[in-house]
Amino acid sequence: MRVLLIGSGGREHALAWKLAQSPRLGALYAAPGNPGIAEHAQLVVLDTADNEAVLAFCKAETIDFVVIGPEAPLVAGLADRLRQGGIAVFGPSAAAAQLEGSKGFTKDICARYDIPTGAYQRFTSAEPAKAYIRREGAPIVIKADGLAAGKGVTVAMTLDEALDAVDSCFAGAFGDAGAEVVVEAYLDGEEASFFCLCDGTSALALASAQDHKRVGDGDTGPNTGGMGAYSPAPVMTPDMVERTMREIIEPTIRGMAESGHPFTGVLFAGLMITAKGPELIEYNVRFGDPECQVLMMRLKSDLLTLLHAAATGTLSSVDAEWRDEVALTVVMASKGYPGAYEKDTPIDSLPPEDANTKIFHAGTAQKDGKLVATGGRVLNVTAMGSSVSAAQQQAYAVLDRVVWDNGFSRRDIGWQAVARERN
Ligand code: AMP
Ligand code: GLY
Repeated sequence: MRVLLIGSGGREHALAWKLAQSPRLGALYAAPGNPGIAEHAQLVVLDTADNEAVLAFCKAETIDFVVIGPEAPLVAGLADRLRQGGIAVFGPSAAAAQLEGSKGFTKDICARYDIPTGAYQRFTSAEPAKAYIRREGAPIVIKADGLAAGKGVTVAMTLDEALDAVDSCFAGAFGDAGAEVVVEAYLDGEEASFFCLCDGTSALALASAQDHKRVGDGDTGPNTGGMGAYSPAPVMTPDMVERTMREIIEPTIRGMAESGHPFTGVLFAGLMITAKGPELIEYNVRFGDPECQVLMMRLKSDLLTLLHAAATGTLSSVDAEWRDEVALTVVMASKGYPGAYEKDTPIDSLPPEDANTKIFHAGTAQKDGKLVATGGRVLNVTAMGSSVSAAQQQAYAVLDRVVWDNGFSRRDIGWQAVARERN
């Protein structure tokens, strides 16, 4: 199979690394890619926001299958255009991508299919939203409806904080994404990320992971795209996985099919495991970054076969097998991230990898023959171990041998699970 991978982050490096191991792979291209991806794929200069240009490339290079990593091209209808052009695609249509693109859309599906999630209301102006918040009281959660790069959510512990969040949304703090606001009940529990493949009518559970969204140790400081992750998530016991599939994922797949927008691709459920069981916080319509990196380390099955089955409605004929060990990844970011940071700082040396360690590239580039950091999140240092503690120790041992003066990382990825293992 001749495959084109769209994207340039650590998630796509992990996908490229795993796709390259497939016996069914003929050729792998990536656009725009990065220096890590270039070890497994031929990089293509292509404007991935230009759906026609991507289709033209696929025709010219007789591409059989396109794997779309990030959400932006999905929301922009790249999967629709390629399918119209007769090319198999891993990733949902723009209509189905609303599961990530519109929080209100997802909440309405939850209401219609009785999917457990926080009680909510949608608002298009401030005063009714504030009246609702005063009635419900704090803690309460305020969300800009649209895509706001993970920054559109305020978990307000006080009434004043909640009312301020409503004002800032409608004042345009998140641009068009905040033209509508969802106010939602606060859910108390432990968070987990859960991934499954979908082919429009059925779903195949993949694995779980836990992310670390805050920039600082002990989960302090501002939110980021994710500073580290590990898989599996200890809270996702076999019983919780079974309930998540039955109570959350399967009704969503049914609801999307019944609405005329069947979901194909990977469904990433952000869950809160509360005293009542799993409740949905949000959906993403792509692999998590950096969660994908730990999933790919643990996946034993052929990734190309799995993704192609999801894209072609044949998911019931495949299965996913996993290594029992824990995989853990630590994000190295440019100093200053998630605020402003210096670009093109030199990464002088990367340590060697072995069967249980891997450094995925996220925001790197080659400039004048040297590796430099171009992004906020730059490297994902990943290791396998027999426990979270063992994987953590191994990942930091590798990370400490990376020579990059402008880089930093959290030092406590996996801390909750490590504390549990000590008890
Ligand atoms: P989201 O962008 O919807 O994933 O929200 C970002 C973060 O806000 C989540 O990862 C949670 O930590 C938190 N959050 C979102 N919704 C709720 C909720 N209803 N209750 C408690 N925390 C929430
Ligand atoms: N790491 C969280 C995300 O990919 O949305």
